[in-house]
Amino acid sequence: MQDGNVIHFISKIENIDFKESLEILAEKAGITLPVLENGIDNKKQLLKEKVYEINKEAALYYHQTLYKDISKSAQEYVKKRKLDNKTLKAYTIGYAPINSNLYKILKEKGFTDEEILASDLVNKVGNNFVDRFKNRLIFPIQDVRNRYIAFGGRVLDNSLPKYINSPENIVYSKARNLYGLNVAKNSKLEKLIIVEGYMDVVSLHQRGIENVVASCGTALTEAQGRLLRKYAEKVIISYDSDAAGQAATLRGLEILTNLGCDIRVLQMDGAKDPDEYVIKYGNARFENLVEKAISLIEFKIKVLKKDLDLNNVNDKIKFLNEIAKLVSTIDNRMEQEVYIDKISREYDISKEAIYAEINKLNYSKNQGKKILENNYRSSTIIKKKEVTLPETLVKRENMIIGILLNGKTKVYEKIKDILLPEDFKKEENKKIMQKLYEEFEKGNSNINNILEIFNDNEEIISILTGIMADDYEIKDDKKAIEDLINNYKKEKLISRKKEIIDILNNENIDKQKVINLEKELHDVIIELAQIK
Ligand code: CTP
Ligand code: MN
Repeated sequence: MQDGNVIHFISKIENIDFKESLEILAEKAGITLPVLENGIDNKKQLLKEKVYEINKEAALYYHQTLYKDISKSAQEYVKKRKLDNKTLKAYTIGYAPINSNLYKILKEKGFTDEEILASDLVNKVGNNFVDRFKNRLIFPIQDVRNRYIAFGGRVLDNSLPKYINSPENIVYSKARNLYGLNVAKNSKLEKLIIVEGYMDVVSLHQRGIENVVASCGTALTEAQGRLLRKYAEKVIISYDSDAAGQAATLRGLEILTNLGCDIRVLQMDGAKDPDEYVIKYGNARFENLVEKAISLIEFKIKVLKKDLDLNNVNDKIKFLNEIAKLVSTIDNRMEQEVYIDKISREYDISKEAIYAEINKLNYSKNQGKKILENNYRSSTIIKKKEVTLPETLVKRENMIIGILLNGKTKVYEKIKDILLPEDFKKEENKKIMQKLYEEFEKGNSNINNILEIFNDNEEIISILTGIMADDYEIKDDKKAIEDLINNYKKEKLISRKKEIIDILNNENIDKQKVINLEKELHDVIIELAQIK
């Protein structure tokens, strides 16, 4: 076999790329590959090698410690989590004892202070060297070349923080690695399942589902997405079933779709995460969920549906609108039909209604294009806003103005603290609301000359006359305004909910802030539930 073939062969069986294979071959042959970098980088390279060595020593030390008599509590915990010995070995799971003193061990092995501190396994506090991990179950993180690059440590009880992780350092970039990929890459990789946590990976693996990796709590990054894509054609997202997990799913989906992955979402009921699920229901049922995992579009529709009440006309219009938008992103006609068929059955909406909505959408898109083109020709002002605002939203805003003009002060008193002119998305409507509020505030309850107020603004006059002429088929003003207010409240709460989940997921914030945000999230969710 020629050298080129050897490299190719290694990349094939080890499932890694050319540069990495070359490095492995050199390592095996005891050859140092020429370092293309300058001297400084070379020094960095040497330090990196030392940190890899330190990490390996530490991983083995933690792992061996787990089997010792002093580790009774950890052994009991591992038993409680139903991890067997084979799993502990496959992932070098270990235990950092209460009195762990890695510094001493590493010094005895000849590592320098600089090297030890670079590993971040030990911190310098004053003149003392203190272990980062104490009294925690240890999950070493390995890269695809099986090098130990970082650690996660879990408490053995319910205290906080549940996990402590290695910070980013000379050998560890969180955004570029996936926990468990070193093990998963040895299994058949027709598809890869991505989960949130260490425990999910090891638990599924133990039960025969070996193609699993974890993004470790944060939302998937693009680099992780590329890594996934390199190893598998299909990716199944199986995040936790809580709100945070579902929000992370949506973002992960966007990233993977943009990278051209065939991506599906696993839907799980009756358990909060894959670990709990597979323990409760077994691997066959989990595999079944993998088979039934749904596409991006189906998932989006499901998410949408969650916040809507299809018995409410407003909501149903919105739902149909969004379905039409989603389905029309599918290029393939046949596929479109399959989806429409499925949605129609699942949500009990007639296929005709969906087709009608898609046609309407296409029509207004073309109209929008025309307006845009005309504007290009006739003037430099492009009324972008008007073209892009959803029809239902504008309709609703108009309806509110209609009711307000109809019910006057009575309605104003009811809505003024909840609906602000700024809440109105259409510019003209915002102006109208501002003026109306001003007038009501002045005590001018007799706005019959409303058109005169705007007599120099033709655009607004035409909108107002349109609104006044429109028949909204409202039988009960009071009920209608209540519905509308509730809708606005709901939207504000939903968007706040999303915002909080985003912050909790993405930002490095201190513990107190996390507690406050979690409390607020809790309140928001309860308020939402009360509205529904
Ligand atoms: N995580 C973290 N820090 C935390 C909480 C979570 O780094 N304080 C990361 C860990 O990588 C964890 C993942 O987010 O594995 C998922 O969190 P969670 O679902 O809470 O943990 P599990 O791995 O499921 O652990 P367990 O089942 O023991 O609760
Ligand atoms: Mn869990």
